[in-house]
Amino acid sequence: MERTRRLRASRTVRDMVRENHVRVEELIYPVFVIEGKNICNPVNSMPGICQYSIDRLGEELDRVVQAGVRAVLLFGIPEHKDEAGSGAYDDNGIVQQAIRFMKREEKYRELVVIADVCLCEYTSHGHCGLIRDGIILNDETLPLLAKTAVSYAKAGADMIAPSDMMDKRVEAIRGALDEGGFCQIPIMAYSAKFASSFYGPFRDAAHSAPGFGDRKTYQMDPANGREALREVEEDILEGADIIIAKPAMAYMDIIKEIALNYNIPIAAYNVSGEYAMVKAAAQKGWIDEKKIVMEILTGFKRAGAKMIITYHALEAAEWIKEENH
Ligand code: PBG
Repeated sequence: MERTRRLRASRTVRDMVRENHVRVEELIYPVFVIEGKNICNPVNSMPGICQYSIDRLGEELDRVVQAGVRAVLLFGIPEHKDEAGSGAYDDNGIVQQAIRFMKREEKYRELVVIADVCLCEYTSHGHCGLIRDGIILNDETLPLLAKTAVSYAKAGADMIAPSDMMDKRVEAIRGALDEGGFCQIPIMAYSAKFASSFYGPFRDAAHSAPGFGDRKTYQMDPANGREALREVEEDILEGADIIIAKPAMAYMDIIKEIALNYNIPIAAYNVSGEYAMVKAAAQKGWIDEKKIVMEILTGFKRAGAKMIITYHALEAAEWIKEENH
């Protein structure tokens, strides 16, 4: 008689048949660096997450190394913003400084430094591209994104992650990187990126909320799954090496569809709003944080993600090491 419970009878057998695992080496931890001195600003809506000035970044990076996490995704918060987001491609910009700091210090040098490429943290209007007559310009923005990517690569970034959602940015960035002698630097493209309300807390953390309107003319409509596959296909053709699906929890079907259709590594971005909800419920004592987080992260793996970008990374790494979830 068929009995599926036979393989669930003991922990040891359950462990043998377990299909998916969250591995510490697949976790990517987002880090916010801010211009200024002696800053460690907690982000209200993201308990446990702070903005760090370069002189205190080591505190956070020590925790990363200690946890065994090997990759960070860098976001910068500049002191000055302007219409053209010039802080993004300033060779002495905040992210460039942070990358150089990390590559200079022996204990952080091995960390994979992934630099998020976007203008929204650097523009006075908070949009991800240049603006004329209230319209977010596509082709005019591309050279600035390419310039930003090359500037990060020059500083020592190991990977470039464009999150702006302009058409043809991967092609523009790939071309500029190759021309600049950085043909070995991979592009991790935010391909399936939706115009989501789950980014709310991040915009507090990165000071990047749009000053007018929303991002719906460049980020995707949350209702569209087939369109996400079109974006992925386009980015692969343009030279993307890794595909990001974002947000992740309400978009697990998108991760699965990409996994079924393309032979390329996928990173699930477990975004700020998803993190905030879990933290808030946990603080109220309404959920078991550790179990819930591990269940969510395992869900991303089951859906087909290879890597997971998550603010839970440091805690999750400890829990994985304990191995009793
Ligand atoms: C920049 C960017 C955003 C996020 C990552 N890169 C915000 C946005 O698109 O508005 C969101 C990350 C998160 O919510 O954790 N374009």
